Amino acid sequence: MKVTVFGIGYVGLVQAAVLAEVGHQVVCVDVDQNKVDNLEKGIIPIYEPGLTPLVKSNFEAGRVKFTTDAIKGVEHGDVVFIAVGTPPDEDGSADLKYVLAVAKTIAEAMTKHKIVINKSTVPVGTADKVKAKIAEVQESLGKSISYDVVSNPEFLKEGAAVNDCMRPDRIIIGTNSDGAEKKLRELYAPFNRNHDKIIVMDIRSAELTKYAANCMLATKISFMNEMANLAEVFGADIENVRLGIGSDPRIGYQFIYPGCGYGGSCFPKDVQALARSATEAGYTAKILESVEAVNYKQKEKLFEYISGHFGNNLKGKTAAIWGLSFKPNTDDMREASSRVLMEHLWEAGVKVQAYDPEAMEETQRIYGARDDLTLAGTKEAALKGADFLVICTEWQVFRAPDFELIKQSLSEPLLFDGRNLFEPSLMQEYGLHYYAIGRGLSIKER
Ligand code: UDX
Repeated sequence: MKVTVFGIGYVGLVQAAVLAEVGHQVVCVDVDQNKVDNLEKGIIPIYEPGLTPLVKSNFEAGRVKFTTDAIKGVEHGDVVFIAVGTPPDEDGSADLKYVLAVAKTIAEAMTKHKIVINKSTVPVGTADKVKAKIAEVQESLGKSISYDVVSNPEFLKEGAAVNDCMRPDRIIIGTNSDGAEKKLRELYAPFNRNHDKIIVMDIRSAELTKYAANCMLATKISFMNEMANLAEVFGADIENVRLGIGSDPRIGYQFIYPGCGYGGSCFPKDVQALARSATEAGYTAKILESVEAVNYKQKEKLFEYISGHFGNNLKGKTAAIWGLSFKPNTDDMREASSRVLMEHLWEAGVKVQAYDPEAMEETQRIYGARDDLTLAGTKEAALKGADFLVICTEWQVFRAPDFELIKQSLSEPLLFDGRNLFEPSLMQEYGLHYYAIGRGLSIKER
């Protein structure tokens, strides 16, 4: 099938590569010439396991092409994905200007029927706006060509996006058109094996499903972080509580890990956007507002422990930080807890020596060169001459470190763990003063 994807960002590129891999003919359109040139040379703009070889092999086989020529792009595809960004504007609502600009381009260039698929995460009602935009532009040009607008949200996890796209657990198709449904069933048939994963529904429900999924997961995390804070208040251990509640299959073990807050491109943005669009519609989404507020506070947690430990006397200290990305297996620093921590530390006059397996270039890009930031070549090098260690991201390489070396390298045997990687009793045996999120033993030590 001939497919066009507008927006070679994270979602667009993964979707395009995976569709090409099963044999569809894909053209990707982006406004950024540099990005297009790089992709043609095999340089992939994001770090995502498995994506580079997939893009390269499909480009070499001629199944995926990259261009800035939007008109050619529209001509090519029977189905046209909109996968451009929807950045939050000042009040947290999703900004639709890029989505609507693509809708306008499609309307201007289309000469035959098109199925327009909204892949970007967009507020409920966006498909109607895209439809209206296409109608308006067609009318102004004196055209009247039929088209469908479908909502088909993505459910990709960074670090596992290729697999999530190849082996989706559900494919949501929001449409009121039998023709569009048939075409999308054909498009996704290669991914719809073993059992039927396609769920067809009305457009608005599909749009809300995407937000509801992310908000539910973010709610689980904020709920657990609130429980971790209560565990500290009451002198309990949140890790025991986690095991105790996760064993109930209605609750489950997934997404109940307490920590220094959730980040990334989806949860913070989507929780905010749904809360804001609820407010605009005259409804106060109290749970969502609390989920956001709890997460905001949770990102301050590590700095609270640190400044509490030193009695607010931090000036001149050096912090070693392990893990900068918002989660492992990505270089993405968007809304990462490490940023909140580093910015607080700098404000308090603390130098940072950080190590991350993938996100150091991105950190450099965001913060530039500064005297109070050193990016170390290894996790061990980050410890040298530092006063204490903080873990912000649970990369595998941090899970079994040389605790003796940590102790020897630091001026104080002091470890702040934002991801609860270790047993407080073991840390005690190693002679490390250990702060973790909501853990009884580390509380008793304090
Ligand atoms: C998320 C959703 O999982 C995905 O389905 C959606 O399409 C996009 O948003 P992603 O942002 O890539 O994916 O990361 P995810 O693995 O979900 O983690 C999000 C954040 O939550 C991370 O900062 C992670 O550290 C944190 N988290 C996750 C917790 O703090 N505790 C948990 O139990 C799980």
